[in-house]
Amino acid sequence: MKASGLSIKPTVLKLGGSVITHKDKPLTANLTAIRRLAEEIAEAKIPQLIVVHGGGSFGHTMAKEYAIKEGFRGEASQLLGFTKTHQAMITLNNLVLEALIQHNISAMAIAPSSFIVSKSGRIATMRYEPLKRLLDMGAVPLLYGDAILDFDKGFTILSGDQLVASLAVHFGAKRIVVGIDEDGLFTADPKEHGRPDLIRKCTLRRLRKLRRQIKGTNACDVTGGMQGKIAELMPAIEEGIPTLIVNGTISRRIYKALKGEKVTGTLIQKNEGAKRHH
Ligand code: IPE
Repeated sequence: MKASGLSIKPTVLKLGGSVITHKDKPLTANLTAIRRLAEEIAEAKIPQLIVVHGGGSFGHTMAKEYAIKEGFRGEASQLLGFTKTHQAMITLNNLVLEALIQHNISAMAIAPSSFIVSKSGRIATMRYEPLKRLLDMGAVPLLYGDAILDFDKGFTILSGDQLVASLAVHFGAKRIVVGIDEDGLFTADPKEHGRPDLIRKCTLRRLRKLRRQIKGTNACDVTGGMQGKIAELMPAIEEGIPTLIVNGTISRRIYKALKGEKVTGTLIQKNEGAKRHH
């Protein structure tokens, strides 16, 4: 389903959980990073922007503990874990929201679990109307990877990346910017193999070939690490939406990526000669 009816093509920004939280410390936000990113987003002044953030040491820790992604086993203790996972995401979301509002960004948080239901882990129904109206007004919808209800599994985890791709396709996004804790995509894990070459530009065809080689970087990630991230972003790239993966832990990279300025990162485009959407 497309035809967003928006006059301007929105930009969809994903702030990875590894950027806005301390990955190895359960339930610990990286407030310095959150505030810096809010400042960069404010300065970029993107006319239509959707921000989605990940779970990091909030969502993933909790989701793993209660095996939320695998679905509801009918146990009261797991159901409590489902609500706790959502609550952990709200706590993190509120920190991001506060930082954005402090920088005079009209951000409006909407819980994905309140308007999306999945089927076997894939988004099945979504109400776009509130988002469209917010975008039309110039507000910034703020969403996140969430514990959501599922027609088959009872509940599951919706990754921020699946949400990003789905929104970008629906609203015909100009570009997707994904902030992670690496400079972009490498054919080997830079955390294990020193500094392999960064893939600066990549077509869909090359990406498909590379996918098996791309190493996951998250030890505690219920949504599949880097490979899962790429797989989730694929539908948007296939639609021709340029997708830029940059290091969100380094100052100014997200700003430059949002502005369409030259920046260190991996730009994934459908085809070689794809036009630059600036
Ligand atoms: C995960 O979202 C959300 C939960 C675990 C509830 P993501 O999969 O998008 O999070 P990050 O960016 O990898 O941390």
